[in-house]
Amino acid sequence: MNALVVDNISKTFITKNKKKVHAISNTSFTINENEFVCILGPSGGGKSTLLNIIAGFEEPTSGQVIAHGQKINGPSPSRIMVFQEFALFPWLSVLDNISFGLEMKGMGRVKRYEHAKYYVALVGLEKFVDSYPSELSGGMKQRVAIARALAMQPDILLMDEPFGALDAYTRENLQQELLNIWEKERKTVLFVTHSVDEAVTMADKIIIMAGSPGTIHNEISNTLDRKRVNTEPGFVELKAQIQKYVQRAGNLNASLKN
Ligand SMILES: Nc1ncnc2c1ncn2[C@@H]1O[C@H](COP(=O)(O)OP(=O)(O)O)[C@@H](O)[C@H]1O
Ligand SMILES: [Mg+2]
Repeated sequence: MNALVVDNISKTFITKNKKKVHAISNTSFTINENEFVCILGPSGGGKSTLLNIIAGFEEPTSGQVIAHGQKINGPSPSRIMVFQEFALFPWLSVLDNISFGLEMKGMGRVKRYEHAKYYVALVGLEKFVDSYPSELSGGMKQRVAIARALAMQPDILLMDEPFGALDAYTRENLQQELLNIWEKERKTVLFVTHSVDEAVTMADKIIIMAGSPGTIHNEISNTLDRKRVNTEPGFVELKAQIQKYVQRAGNLNASLKN
């Protein structure tokens, strides 16, 4: 079964001044179970709107999204979002941040701490369970956000430019960590990024969105062996090809604005 079917969705926002903003038009694609999909495309191309619809935070104006055979009609712990800005509760310790959603799910105290500790270890933060977000670096905060999302044991992990605010070194480390976790936990992942390098490193499939309203411009499967090295010829070649598509997508959006 497909993990996700996005079936001809469009989204029009009505702003406070009663203006219509067409964010997405007639967009369809499917994602297989455990697939790692990256979405690239110019700003304003509807990427966040698409993720918000899949998360169930927004409703499509037309069309539907089906997750594991069921039409999405609101948020669910089976689809969890990780944002660029480490949306942690500053007044809660690392462990309590990760346990928070589990409490909402009705898991008892002993069990949820045990469960949370497993995910703290998975992201390598055992020594920081009692620390507060303000005591952590950006990379560590994002590790907590990832652990918190994984602790909910979602089927689908939605990540909206999760490493966009991190320095290059931290970002590369987190990419590898996320891939290791993905190999272990086997989730379906939808990951928005501005970095072609990141998309080629992470993805089984790369979707390029463009236009205004946004829609799918290209869909490319990435069959490079895992443990990818960005200096290998296959990597360099695919990256160049995708850069070309992304540039075309950007040019298209620029021409639509003029
Ligand atoms: N809540 C909203 N109300 C009105 N317009 C919105 C809202 N959210 C997004 N938009 C508009 O929808 C378009 C797509 O935005 P977005 O999905 O954030 O793009 P991206 O994430 O690709 O940069 C933009 O024109 C944006 O201004
Ligand atoms: Mg966005």
